[in-house]
Amino acid sequence: MIPGDFQIRKPSRIQVLILGILGIGGLVGAVVGLVLGAFVITAWLGLPLDVFGLNEGPEQPIAFPHTTHVKSLGMDCTFCHRNVTVGAAASVPAVGLCMTCHKTIGDGNEEISKLRDYHSSGLPINWVRVHRVPDHVNFIHEPHIRHFGEKYGGPAGTCQLCHGDVGRMVKVKQVRSLKMGDCVDCHKANDAPTDCTTCHY
Ligand code: HEC
Ligand code: HEC
Ligand code: HEC
Ligand code: HEC
Ligand code: HEC
Repeated sequence: MIPGDFQIRKPSRIQVLILGILGIGGLVGAVVGLVLGAFVITAWLGLPLDVFGLNEGPEQPIAFPHTTHVKSLGMDCTFCHRNVTVGAAASVPAVGLCMTCHKTIGDGNEEISKLRDYHSSGLPINWVRVHRVPDHVNFIHEPHIRHFGEKYGGPAGTCQLCHGDVGRMVKVKQVRSLKMGDCVDCHKANDAPTDCTTCHY
């Protein structure tokens, strides 16, 4: 008797099927593994890169270059961030302020035509926030600008303490941690209050 022949060949089809499924499963598994691996690696690398401020700033609805306006045109930070010397928030200018110049300047520039479209539609530009402290934290620009303004030659000279050299950034990015330890260290170094209620509601 040669029992093998038929019986061996028949299961082999099932085996082929199983092997096929295993093969496809393995392939899917490998892809999932690679994706997860890449995710873990970027997340792991992403954190220290962020901490050292080497991160790229976010993509904005209009590619607004601080470089052109600050470095080349010499505009003052407080011309656009008007609230910074009086209030908590620095505020980003409304489209209307941009249009005082861009009604006439920038014909043929794609980003400027986007700007004009916002203006004619009356829609606000939803700029992506770069710096933000959590809701339970009370940060006010005004006392900082007042305190450091004298030493650093006026309000605009103080911005770089916390924001770096924005005038040279094509895309604004965060360069200082501005976490609790960072705030408290600077307060200690400058005899500013450090009790919890200074910064927490
Ligand atoms: C012509 C107007 C204009 C001038 C001048 C200007 N800015 Fe801005 N700034 C903007 C606009 C618009 C945004 C929002 C888009 C962006 O983030 O690029 C912005 C964003 C920022 C942000 C990021 C805000 C956030 O979301 O955290 C900082 C910080 C900043 N500016 C600082 C400065 C400093 C410092 C100067 C002076 C060296 C300056 N700006 C001059 C218009 C201006
Ligand atoms: C005081 C006048 C003035 C104001 C206010 C102003 N800009 Fe400009 N902007 C200019 C000039 C000048 C240029 C350079 C145009 C060129 O090179 O052709 C420019 C260039 C640009 C460009 C093109 C990019 C580049 O570098 O050429 C964009 C985008 C832009 N501005 C956006 C804005 C936005 C958004 C605002 C408001 C937050 C604003 N501007 C406010 C004068 C101004
Ligand atoms: C002591 C540190 C410090 C200094 C100095 C400082 N900032 Fe800020 N800035 C911050 C922090 C922290 C935030 C986030 C605040 C929040 O989330 O409420 C911020 C947010 C901003 C924003 C975005 C949100 C908003 O408030 O409208 C702009 C624009 C800005 N700063 C501009 C400026 C300019 C311009 C100067 C200089 C005139 C300046 N900052 C000086 C720490 C500082
Ligand atoms: C570059 C140093 C520096 C950094 C960074 C800094 N501060 Fe300050 N802060 C000061 C100084 C100096 C004062 C005191 C100003 C004065 O003379 O009234 C102050 C004052 C304040 C005040 C007002 C206190 C009061 O009662 O008058 C608040 C609120 C505040 N800081 C919150 C923060 C928070 C929140 C952060 C971090 C996100 C921060 N600060 C980061 C230096 C700093
Ligand atoms: C000079 C400002 C400042 C002072 C003073 C301060 N904090 Fe904070 N605190 C912050 C900021 C900014 C954050 C948010 C950023 C972060 O998580 O570090 C924060 C976050 C926190 C958080 C949340 C942490 C988390 O992981 O979400 C707690 C809890 C806290 N603070 C407690 C305190 C206590 C308790 C004190 C008094 C001993 C104190 N803070 C004093 C600025 C301050």
